Amino acid sequence: MTFELPLALATLAVVLIGHFGTWIALYNRINATGLKRTTIKRIEKAIVLACGIIPILLLLIEWTQHGFVGVFNGLLGGASAWSRLTIAYSIVAGMLGILLAPFWIMDRPQFATAKDRVTVTSAENLNLVKQTRENGEIYIQGDSFRKMSLLPGNQIVSLQGNCKRLKFKHLPKDIAGLRVAHLSDVHMTGQLSNAFYRLATDWIAEQCPDVIILSGDIVDNEFALQQLQPVFDGLSAPLGMYFVLGNHDRRLVDPTIVCRKLCELGWTDLGKEQARRQYQGTTLRLIGNEQPWFQRSSGPLEFQSRESSPLDEWTIGVSHSPDQFAWGIKNRCQLMLCGHTHGGQIRFPIVGPIIAPSWYGTRYASGVFEKNETVMHVSRGVSGVHPFRWGCPPEVSVLELTSL
Ligand SMILES: [Fe+2]
Repeated sequence: MTFELPLALATLAVVLIGHFGTWIALYNRINATGLKRTTIKRIEKAIVLACGIIPILLLLIEWTQHGFVGVFNGLLGGASAWSRLTIAYSIVAGMLGILLAPFWIMDRPQFATAKDRVTVTSAENLNLVKQTRENGEIYIQGDSFRKMSLLPGNQIVSLQGNCKRLKFKHLPKDIAGLRVAHLSDVHMTGQLSNAFYRLATDWIAEQCPDVIILSGDIVDNEFALQQLQPVFDGLSAPLGMYFVLGNHDRRLVDPTIVCRKLCELGWTDLGKEQARRQYQGTTLRLIGNEQPWFQRSSGPLEFQSRESSPLDEWTIGVSHSPDQFAWGIKNRCQLMLCGHTHGGQIRFPIVGPIIAPSWYGTRYASGVFEKNETVMHVSRGVSGVHPFRWGCPPEVSVLELTSL
């Protein structure tokens, strides 16, 4: 079959988009499941192998039949009798590319975020601020992170302190001005030092928030448990500090050790129990969700009907995964705080992030989202186990609640 060059290139692009897009979509979704970590890692490896090996295998098959020049000409639309296998796979990948591309485009966080609900009032690079005040802090203590941090543009310790104004349609007068500190995905592994994490906690303390929320992925291994006390010691807020666990907290032999240590430091475990606090005449209700990784039963994990929900309370829902947005909406959460997706860790110009462990792909990679009466803030997180971030600096935030 002979193609005009532009048509051939467009066909090749659609096939490649279909191929890579479908395997990446599967990769994102498998990491959103509550499957055992070892099972997820096995499936992940199979997906990565399939993604890389299938095109190479097909090219090798064609190369043995047509030679290098034949394959090159064929890709550019010259006559080539491709094998049935190559034709069949290209048709399937191309069809998937055509069918799914509109959904992938719609799910870009650039289109999905509720930009009119948030204003960033200040953004500081806490690493740079600290360095100009006092030199000599060592933020990276692990070899792999240190080596990877040398890659140009790697932002793993470029921690941002962001003050954001969140706008609500129907905000009770009492709640207006409430300041909520949100940190997520601390990922203590021993790779980053206590001094790095203190950039986040010291900045929060300087902002004097009314309440502090930690939305999961706190400690990744037993060795790093010793970092909890020096990092969080001394932190407090008038309305309290609250946390839920994330999927990485399952890596510990006994994740309840994290809960116990944080509770000893003054935190409240929202995975175990909901909380109510009085704030200027309004009752603030805080509820947690650790689905699909933990099934701790004391929290309101079941959907509540609007009728049975307390209408006179203002509810903050905390979930590690933004996939629980529907749970927050059904439980009448006016504000929902999540992490898990790390902003995608790598964000390309125009395209944005590609990888995010969510049933919704990269839609909830980071930012502010709104549905019905619920506004959801998804943090890019403080750290991660993968030692690279490009175009996606880690963050800690203070959210000031205001009326629209
Ligand atoms: Fe995480």
